Amino acid sequence: MSKVFVPPIKCQGIKTKLAEWILAQVTFADDGCWIEPFMGSGVIGFNLRPKSAIFADKNPHLIRFYRAIQSGEITPARAKVFLESEGAKLSNAGQSHFNAVRARFNKEGSPWDFLFLNRSCFNGIIRFNSKGGFNTPYGHKPERFAQAYVTKIVNQIDYVSKAMRNSHWEFVCADFRDIINRATKNDLIYCDPPYLGRHVDYFDSWREVDERDLAALLAKTKALFIISTWHSNQYRKNTSLKKFWSDFTMLTREHFYHVGGKEENRNPMLEALVMNFEPGVSATDFESSREVKQLALMEKPVRYRVTTSVSTSRRHAIKSKC
Ligand SMILES: C[S@@+](CC[C@H](N)C(=O)[O-])C[C@H]1O[C@@H](n2cnc3c(N)ncnc32)[C@H](O)[C@@H]1O
Repeated sequence: MSKVFVPPIKCQGIKTKLAEWILAQVTFADDGCWIEPFMGSGVIGFNLRPKSAIFADKNPHLIRFYRAIQSGEITPARAKVFLESEGAKLSNAGQSHFNAVRARFNKEGSPWDFLFLNRSCFNGIIRFNSKGGFNTPYGHKPERFAQAYVTKIVNQIDYVSKAMRNSHWEFVCADFRDIINRATKNDLIYCDPPYLGRHVDYFDSWREVDERDLAALLAKTKALFIISTWHSNQYRKNTSLKKFWSDFTMLTREHFYHVGGKEENRNPMLEALVMNFEPGVSATDFESSREVKQLALMEKPVRYRVTTSVSTSRRHAIKSKC
């Protein structure tokens, strides 16, 4: 991939820096549908640009935003005018303008205000309180919408609107349980749910029962799937890997998170991809390779690409080379 496209809406856990690695594992039939039940920013699917896709999320504001681009309500030209005008107000009034837009958004839910807030709040974090009110604080950058930044966002909207034009993309606000069942044999489901035990806000709450339901649905799907999750950091391991995902193939890779002040964000984390196929196996070979997939979980994190199909002694040999 030449350059990873960054979408107009940011979110915590955005996979921009892992996009190339994730997309390198993707394989599915040309007539298949890309299904992303936890789209967030949509960075993975938007970079893949499949002909047919379902982008879904429980957060209605994300879906409303992309539907507004699809319907032509949000265009690059209109976005330029809007961001220049709101940017000038932010430059004059700073925090009080941010607060006014946030209050307006929490009353009316406009996708325009969602864009403004997302790009001027603290670290592009999308966070809601229990009543569904957006509550991320101001990013304290009154000159945020300088010309170069406005142009960057306008170009991001332009990319997505062009990508949608010649494709069959559906944007759906739904719980993952209602999306995964729509997958059929030739499809690929890419799941990036909130990481268990790490997120607590309204749209991102994720409990063990959710992970269990997800694993049960994916275990019986006829489609291919890939799920992003975390393997370990220097403090702890993701115990749900053993509990829910040990029947599948796993790859790991080190990743640095830079957002926030939490322990897991200040240190390298070992990211994991769990999938029901062997990376590098084409969709047509998939059915025959499916039966041979009973792979044990790695005991110890290993840097970069390791499948779990190796024996313990071989595993240590690989590890010592890294
Ligand atoms: C880690 S983010 C996805 C990030 C995305 N892959 C990216 O790179 O930008 C997880 C997303 O799952 C959504 N979500 C949380 N619980 C959900 C559920 N039960 N059903 C569908 N989406 C859910 C959140 O709103 C959030 O957008």
